[in-house]
Amino acid sequence: MKKINFVCIVLIFALWFSTLESLAQGSNRSVTAKNVEIERKINALLARMALAEKLGQLQQLDGEANGNYRPEHLELARKGLLGSTLNVRGAKRVNELQKAALESRLKIPMLYSFDVIHGYRTMFPVPLGESASWDTALMERTAAIAAAEARAAGVHWTFAPMVDIARDPRWGRVIEGAGEDTYLGSQIAYARVRGFQGSDYSQNNRVMATAKHWVGYGAAEAGRDYNTTDLSERALREIYFPPFKAAIDAGVGSFMTAFNDLDGVPATANPFVLKDVLRGEWKFDGLVVSDYTAVMELMFHGLAKDEADAAQYALNAGTDVEMVSRFYNKHGADLVKQRKLSMATIDEAVRRILRIKYRLGLFEKPFADENLEKAEVFKQANRDVAKLAAEKSFVLLKNQNQTLPINKNTKEIAVIGALADSKIDMNGNWAGDGRAEDAVTVLDGLKRKFPKMKIRFEPGCDAKCETDAGFEKAVDAAKDSDFTVLVVGESIEMSAEASSRSNIDLPGKQLDLVKRIHQTGKPYAVVLMNGRPLTINWLAENAPAILETWFAGTMAGHAIADTLFGDANPGGKLPITFPRSVGQIPIYYNQKNTGRPVKESEKYTSKYLDIPNTPLYPFGYGLSYTQFRLSNLQLDKTQILPSGNVKVSVEIENTGKLAGDEVVQLYIHDVAASVTRPVKELKGFRRVALKADEKQTVNFTLSPKELSFLDRNLKPIVEPGEFQVFVGTSSDSGLQSDFEVVNTLTAKTNLPVQAKDEKIEDAPKTPVPAAQIEAADDVFLEDLSKKTFQFFGNIPTRKRV
Ligand code: NOJ
Repeated sequence: MKKINFVCIVLIFALWFSTLESLAQGSNRSVTAKNVEIERKINALLARMALAEKLGQLQQLDGEANGNYRPEHLELARKGLLGSTLNVRGAKRVNELQKAALESRLKIPMLYSFDVIHGYRTMFPVPLGESASWDTALMERTAAIAAAEARAAGVHWTFAPMVDIARDPRWGRVIEGAGEDTYLGSQIAYARVRGFQGSDYSQNNRVMATAKHWVGYGAAEAGRDYNTTDLSERALREIYFPPFKAAIDAGVGSFMTAFNDLDGVPATANPFVLKDVLRGEWKFDGLVVSDYTAVMELMFHGLAKDEADAAQYALNAGTDVEMVSRFYNKHGADLVKQRKLSMATIDEAVRRILRIKYRLGLFEKPFADENLEKAEVFKQANRDVAKLAAEKSFVLLKNQNQTLPINKNTKEIAVIGALADSKIDMNGNWAGDGRAEDAVTVLDGLKRKFPKMKIRFEPGCDAKCETDAGFEKAVDAAKDSDFTVLVVGESIEMSAEASSRSNIDLPGKQLDLVKRIHQTGKPYAVVLMNGRPLTINWLAENAPAILETWFAGTMAGHAIADTLFGDANPGGKLPITFPRSVGQIPIYYNQKNTGRPVKESEKYTSKYLDIPNTPLYPFGYGLSYTQFRLSNLQLDKTQILPSGNVKVSVEIENTGKLAGDEVVQLYIHDVAASVTRPVKELKGFRRVALKADEKQTVNFTLSPKELSFLDRNLKPIVEPGEFQVFVGTSSDSGLQSDFEVVNTLTAKTNLPVQAKDEKIEDAPKTPVPAAQIEAADDVFLEDLSKKTFQFFGNIPTRKRV
């Protein structure tokens, strides 16, 4: 009795406190109340559901590529045996299928998903390209527009953003992500989720987002899509997890499992990542969907011995919804009978999809509004933002003697290259509901910008460029013109899913075409289109100017024309390293130093014999038509406690004659730590727009969040010791300063620290010849064998050169 009284008192207090707390939290209270109400409704519904209906909710089936549902979907929906579809879209069609779902016994609405990756109908630059803008506000805006168009067309759920960190440009799907860096990738993941979902995805202009592919997919061995990954827990936690965590912090509603085998347990059936981390550590209460047939693929991986085994592995590990394959439905009942799957596990998965349907407001508003669809999709305001996004995504890789911008008085220009007039390629590979006819090509853009200019177009060859039959005409066009815009690169099928390449040079004979144009001696600029870094050493060495434009979306042609002629100034920066050779891959800026950091003069250091370690173009690199100068790097303290903050400020000045954008980048290096740290780690960035002669101070704060790393027990720690701070406009150059983390402050900590203002060595831009054994190498070798590394045994002596 006493015990009951005590429990009652505790409960009364708990209620009282929680009431006080909710009063104090204002609007949080209504969110909590809404969630409580949702859980109550879910329980009530679940209690009425038959097992077949529960399993039906866990099934997702594919519609037709054109957006139609299939006759089977109608039948299943009427029986309450289908929870969601993918690819079915368009207000009229989704409403027809929704009507069928609402005729079912329990009237649970259908959930419509679709890959709205970089736009619904208005196409924005491909994600890697948009990431090159380093403009997270812009990315939030484009995701919001994509969401508004998609929701108006009846789509509730997008399979985006892809937040896989990827450091292997052979992997075609680097195009879909934010590049190689965890910090940049996390900021972008956050922004894109906010853009798609807002703060409440029940709104009629938002969709639920998906963080994918959980996890490690970007680390596919040899850059071959779907390939195995083998990652240490440290690599997972330091490099691959954080963008997913950022998506959770932004409120993401769902996760998609990855296709890959992860350390021996395929991600779709991996309890460590799905249960321990996602549900346990991160308390994620949203939905997990498998990737397309990934449950079935558990058999091919060699994990599951048959279909039923695949279903129980995936569902027991925490994959709630099965996309396309149908093993949950086919074998769920038997698995329950055989006690290989508990009803509680099924109920939990069903709870999660119902929760999403309630959070999306589908029970109250199941139908799409055809008028809204007409008004919203592809409206002019959306296209205006698409043009802006395209311009901001461009990266100027080279601009010798100010080849660009082209003089507007130029009388005749030649436009060479099939990609210059290929609408479908402009839209990019995940073009949603984008239509080729909507897209503006480079040729269209130039013609519309200069209706009176003589513009001659010659493709030269198609994008595969297997023949040089059209080269002569292209050369003639270049000879007859004052300036040539030479558009080369990949067609859209050459990157994205299932599009890995072992050779990332310009395809086919495209480089020969460039060389032929180069030989004319006439001025030209190369416009690159591609979904991944390419090995373009010859271009870097010889072409007068190179503008990287990725696949820039619906408005690509207008944006490129304006940029080529100086009405827009490129300010993008590479979100991924461009290697000199595939032999360097994986190559990324935040590598470890090794015990034998590269020293060209010494053989036994970490390097290649035939090429430098440095990339062709580093992460964070990009030029402008104007010039910028960084100066006056200051830190507000020389010492801090592990819990302290350092304020970093720097001045950036536009010293050129044109307005332009610069991305100021902050990197740190923890000089000595109990776990080795990368040579540089991005910890802040800001894209700043400056008029000619304008100057601005950019401020950053380094707090424990930025300074911590995972210790040997994988727990975050800020360790005492020296930290170097680099502020630059690329990962390979800039200003440097340092400070110290200490357990007891000894210095006057509030004195500003003036930077050394030294320029960090620029990466060599041209390959050096194969290394030769020189006298110094022999001395070093002797030193190694005789003194330092005697256990190497007899190292043969080499001939001196
Ligand atoms: C397979 C892809 O891996 C995934 O990213 C995509 O969302 C699904 N297909 C659905 O189209």
